[in-house]
Amino acid sequence: MEATSQTKMDYIGTLEAQLEKSWKDLSRVEEDLNKSRSMFQAILQAISDIVIVFDKDLNIKIINRQVNLRDKKCHEFFFGVPGICEDCPVLRTIQEKRSITVEKVIRNEYYRIQTHPLMNLHGEVEGVIEVSRPITRDKAREQQLFHADKLSSLGLLVSGIVHEINNPNAYICGNIPLIKEAFKTIFPILDEHLRQNPDFQVARLDYSLFKENVTLMLDDMIQGCSRIQNILGSLKSFTRRAEGLLSERVDLNDVVNEGMRLVYNTMKRMAVIHTDLQEGLPGIKGNKDRLIQVFVNLMINAWQAIDKEKGNIWIKTQFDPKENCVCLSISDEGCGMGEFAKAQIFNPFFTTKKEGTGLGLSIVSKIVSEHNGRTDVESEVGKGSTFTIRLPVES
Ligand SMILES: Nc1ncnc2c1ncn2[C@@H]1O[C@H](COP(=O)(O)OP(=O)(O)O)[C@@H](O)[C@H]1O
Ligand SMILES: [Mg+2]
Repeated sequence: MEATSQTKMDYIGTLEAQLEKSWKDLSRVEEDLNKSRSMFQAILQAISDIVIVFDKDLNIKIINRQVNLRDKKCHEFFFGVPGICEDCPVLRTIQEKRSITVEKVIRNEYYRIQTHPLMNLHGEVEGVIEVSRPITRDKAREQQLFHADKLSSLGLLVSGIVHEINNPNAYICGNIPLIKEAFKTIFPILDEHLRQNPDFQVARLDYSLFKENVTLMLDDMIQGCSRIQNILGSLKSFTRRAEGLLSERVDLNDVVNEGMRLVYNTMKRMAVIHTDLQEGLPGIKGNKDRLIQVFVNLMINAWQAIDKEKGNIWIKTQFDPKENCVCLSISDEGCGMGEFAKAQIFNPFFTTKKEGTGLGLSIVSKIVSEHNGRTDVESEVGKGSTFTIRLPVES
């Protein structure tokens, strides 16, 4: 009897000891679990990308943002649509059991979205983890780099071509006036010849017709050559490198005044030019000649855009203390431009003019960015345009 009771006591004692050990183990596991949970939450919160865990019915289960979206649907909250989006990467990951990367625009912001399947032990998809990264800035930078790359390879190509065309064009330009001059001497001789040979022809034309046209033809050639020269000149400044560029101290008002000397006489017949130059502008570091070129290019465009009898052009300079830069804006009440044109105008060779080269604004934007500045444009079809350049003040 006694022995049995002793055995029971021992057994209870052992059970108690086991229970206590299990209890301690459980507390430790709970403690570990809590630690892991808070570590998991801290890691999740520290991730700047948006991380969302979905169950396989596409309900949000976890999100590392201070919003309670548990059991909400992604398409309702993020896209504001009642049904699943057509190309939903979460759904595709569930169906195809694989990771997927897509780029999407959500509320005017570009996102790179990566989804990965969460599998259970049987190899079935239990849910999906989605990581979204805002990439609008990267995209903009990528486009800028692409543009810069395009410009630099184009620059290389163009400088070679300019050189090749420049030489023969220079002979033509130089020689045609000589030929014109020569004809003045030759014509009396040919006139005399005609008197003796009334059927006299030159280049299968009756001599009198030839005589009438040859001077016009030569004048056309001279005009053509000088147009080629102009285009080559623009191309040259387009490809010119920025060496030693930012060395002078430049007053933006001097740029306007010197630039005006170049354009005023031609423009005053077609446009009324108003200037509003802020006195005592802080100086900028740069190259005055190149900035005058910017001014002249913008002025020519403003002037060419004016389609009325006499339109207004306003030139304004001012200091912007907020951005610590000096600004030059040139506004016209010309034809303006639509969204399509506005998106292209800085691309080399984009032109809407019959005689345009499409290089003026590429040169403007190149020179302005060499000065670490910025070119902005506002425009409305039929109302006019304003081009503003902002250049950082010399520090
Ligand atoms: N002030 C302006 N008003 C309206 N359109 C403009 C203006 N400036 C530029 N543009 C548009 O931008 C195009 C490109 O200009 P630009 O690069 O200077 O080349 P180009 O003057 O030889 O055409 C023009 O053909 C025109 O369509
Ligand atoms: Mg132009």
